[in-house]
Amino acid sequence: MDNTIYKNRRNNLSKSLPVNSVLIIPGADLQYRNADSSFPFRQDSNFYYMSGFCEPSSLMVIVNNGDGINSMIFVPPKDKLKEIWDGYRAGPIGAVEDFLFDKAFDNTQIDLMLPDILHGTEQVLYPIGKKQGFDQKVIDWTTAAASKDRHSKSIGILDATSIIGNIRLIKDKHEIELIKKACDISAEAHITAMRSVKNGDSEQYIESMYIHEFSKKGARYPAYNPIIASGENACVLHYVENNQILSDSDLLLVDAGCEYEMYAADITRTFPINGKFTKEQLQVYEIVLEAMNAAIATVKEGNSIMEPQEVSEKVITEGLVKIGLLNGDPTELHKSGAYKEFYMHKIGHWLGLDVHDAGDYMEGDEFMKFKPGMITTIEPGIYISSSMNVDDKWKGIGVRIEDDILVTDEGNENLTKKVPSDPHEIESLMS
Ligand code: GLY
Ligand code: MN
Ligand code: MN
Repeated sequence: MDNTIYKNRRNNLSKSLPVNSVLIIPGADLQYRNADSSFPFRQDSNFYYMSGFCEPSSLMVIVNNGDGINSMIFVPPKDKLKEIWDGYRAGPIGAVEDFLFDKAFDNTQIDLMLPDILHGTEQVLYPIGKKQGFDQKVIDWTTAAASKDRHSKSIGILDATSIIGNIRLIKDKHEIELIKKACDISAEAHITAMRSVKNGDSEQYIESMYIHEFSKKGARYPAYNPIIASGENACVLHYVENNQILSDSDLLLVDAGCEYEMYAADITRTFPINGKFTKEQLQVYEIVLEAMNAAIATVKEGNSIMEPQEVSEKVITEGLVKIGLLNGDPTELHKSGAYKEFYMHKIGHWLGLDVHDAGDYMEGDEFMKFKPGMITTIEPGIYISSSMNVDDKWKGIGVRIEDDILVTDEGNENLTKKVPSDPHEIESLMS
């Protein structure tokens, strides 16, 4: 097990941490679904990024005293009986030997040791408001540390969310490899689904096909609850009931991506259940695809992250005017936000360890500019629910197309282009 990559990430943190400060990152706890049946454990992404360590209820402390980083980790103690039931624990010795922390302790010592560790520091940083009950713990440790010596400087508390998030925003080589693998597995699952879907299948059956395809290639879990939305269900943006029966002339919108070695893919495709788009479905689809392609073309170094957003709004507005779903001058309609009735979400989000990944969207007062190593989704859509005041022929059409785009030195790379988005390619794949 080579965990040098995580140690290097911790060392690199010294550039972002104030001198004489302590950064605390809590790991995730095991969550229970019902009674004593737990959900599968998923480590907190910040904690994992800086440690590679996957045992619950751990805590990391990084001390920056000006000469570099001192790293400590608190981990579940070795326990013969618990290890018989639940499996191997690294314990403090394993955490130092295998995970390359400078020091490690039993997590039973956290409350006892933290006030001593914080004593004398000027600032405590941690991700504020992210873990239930943790804010109060930090306040308690800080108060206890400050009260050890009434003549010492007070200790400030700072939010570390942006500091860690903006480091995570630029993906390194190791991360890009894993995300590419997550994207490949997910793209292949979409292709399998397109090839096999048919009238009368249930949304739940389609969901099971994705989970099966992910899992058999090493991605045991989806990165988020898959959205398997047939017909009008596609107009519910986060539809996850997935319990309806597919009907022949409807579209199926599937937003599903796997998590591979902790990294997410996020893909949406919308395809006709019977393999052939109707005229109206195709008209709407082609607008979304044009918006998608125009938006992707703007994802490159130095461009504002708002460029794909604006381009997609304009293309969608023009398209809706062309097919008669909006009336008026496209420029004015864009300005007034008329498109929002049909396209009400943003174009995308950062992608990485989390599907909605860490990292700011603003830099000071300005929107962030794309830099090589960032990965963003691009996911325009048009949703026409039956409650809208439009001609019946449009009702129940919901289309979203979503790809994962890596910013490179040369421009960008579409990591999910393996699964077709061109409607004619989709039709021929399904024939
Ligand atoms: N799958 C969630 C999203 O696209 O944001
Ligand atoms: Mn997304
Ligand atoms: Mn998605």
